[in-house]
Amino acid sequence: MSTAHSTLSPSPLNRTFCVAPMMDWTDRHFRYFARLLSQRALLYTEMVTTGALLHGDPQRFLQHHPLEHPLALQLGGSDPAELALCARMGAAAGYREVNLNAGCPSDRVQQNMIGACLMAHPQRVADCIKAMRDAVDIEITLKHRIGINGRDQYSELVDFVGQAQEAGCRTFIVHARIAILEGLSPKENRDIPPLRYDIAQQLKQDFPDLEIILNGGIETLADCQTHLATFDGVMLGRAAYNNPYLLAFVDQHLCGSTAPIISRHQALSALRPYAEAHLKAGGSLHHITRHILGLAQGFSGARRFRQLLSVDIHKTPQPLALFDQALKILEGR
Ligand SMILES: Cc1cc2nc3c(=O)[nH]c(=O)nc-3n(C[C@H](O)[C@H](O)[C@H](O)COP(=O)(O)O)c2cc1C
Repeated sequence: MSTAHSTLSPSPLNRTFCVAPMMDWTDRHFRYFARLLSQRALLYTEMVTTGALLHGDPQRFLQHHPLEHPLALQLGGSDPAELALCARMGAAAGYREVNLNAGCPSDRVQQNMIGACLMAHPQRVADCIKAMRDAVDIEITLKHRIGINGRDQYSELVDFVGQAQEAGCRTFIVHARIAILEGLSPKENRDIPPLRYDIAQQLKQDFPDLEIILNGGIETLADCQTHLATFDGVMLGRAAYNNPYLLAFVDQHLCGSTAPIISRHQALSALRPYAEAHLKAGGSLHHITRHILGLAQGFSGARRFRQLLSVDIHKTPQPLALFDQALKILEGR
């Protein structure tokens, strides 16, 4: 590569369609599979805490396949200096964006001042954003709720976003419900507080120059299309994981691609060499197949497909042969 080439900054990330960070779900194997289905979706890692990176095994947490790009690293933390160090590690590992988690309501993370509880500390969040922006050239973004219990006024949301904006944040991923920090489990906090797209919309109106990505409860690409009339992008979590074949239509339907839509069978065939390499490296095939169960639903053989890859896979000495049986079920689909 010529020097002139290497000094060009990479094109800005396209956030029209993002796959949400999800602990235990969007690990590197799921992301590799998701990338086979969509070339354009922006993928996020699971949340990685600053503690895990600074005191654990960073290689384990940052490891990814080059094919997963474009890829964003989500960090959990609230210490500006630690976040700056971790952002550097992320940038050095090739991530194109660092996203700070201010939306996770779990008790465990609250004790460490991570996640949604940060919404009560806008100045701290702004300091974190600034420290990371000063440390790296890659984009720094924020994922947050529209409020938390006791701090759910629109004016407080405006203050939170405004302070982060002043610290240099341009992209906000808005999970359009509040988080209730006591009494609800993280799972309940993804369903019980009502969705308020109107508030996210108001935010976009009041901050027209910011990139606002809508998250929460979006199920279909038709819904995405509707929201894209108002928002700069959409982020899907559960729908993308539970029904991953939805990702196959993203590039054409939302991102203007003219490439043909990959079939289920083609996607699984393309995953086979990756699965084989993982096995050869001493991994278990289940690490990968647990993420692809949703590929088969609503047609004959779908149950058998899931049985093979979620139950039988644990019992066989020849997991690849079983993978091939599952592949056969997808022939013509
Ligand atoms: C299993 C699971 C794990 C999650 N882990 C994270 C996480 O690590 N970081 C984060 O910001 N949000 C996390 N979330 C929340 C999602 O990113 C997303 O905001 C939420 O599910 C709402 O979007 P959806 O309705 O499209 O699923 C998680 C959600 C699920 C279902």
